[in-house]
Amino acid sequence: MRTLIYPGTFDPLTNGHVDIARRAAKLCDRLIVAVLTNSAKKPAFSVEERLQMTREALAGRENIEVIHFEGLLVDFYREVGACGVVRGLRSESDFRFEAEMAAANRLLNPRFETILLPCRIDLAFTSSSIVREVASYGGDISGMVPLEIMPLIIERLKIKRNQTTKSGGQDD
Ligand code: PNS
Repeated sequence: MRTLIYPGTFDPLTNGHVDIARRAAKLCDRLIVAVLTNSAKKPAFSVEERLQMTREALAGRENIEVIHFEGLLVDFYREVGACGVVRGLRSESDFRFEAEMAAANRLLNPRFETILLPCRIDLAFTSSSIVREVASYGGDISGMVPLEIMPLIIERLKIKRNQTTKSGGQDD
């Protein structure tokens, strides 16, 4: 059985992520969408929320599983017997980070393979950070995220914004 992993922070999941997951699932028998921790980021959504949104948006796709893992991607890779990791590529600026990550993972495990899928051109400017920014100001995110998870995103970011306004502080 050929298992691919699609790892990410998914804070929150966007239509770009769904497109990559859907296309990656066609390349393997089993696709594991892995909600992981990027130590450089401080997510706005909890792990449980990110898992819930990702599961809801990808429900009904029979060879896709959504799992949370705390630790190194190479360890998860070994644990599930994956034959590759898939990452979406939106632009040149994504490439540097992806190439560094692929090289580091390969250094840790010489069998580690990274597959970079160019994202759909109409989704090239959709990112989790833009979704968070637009939603936190009450803007329309309906073209950026799956409709079924939109209410949770809007509600969560509204609460967060109210808290920030009251405390007078700012999130990173
Ligand atoms: O969606 P992101 O934030 O670009 O995803 C990055 C992620 C979560 C895939 C990456 O940070 C990761 O693999 N984290 C797990 C810990 C790890 O293995 N770090 C070393 C990567 S070289």
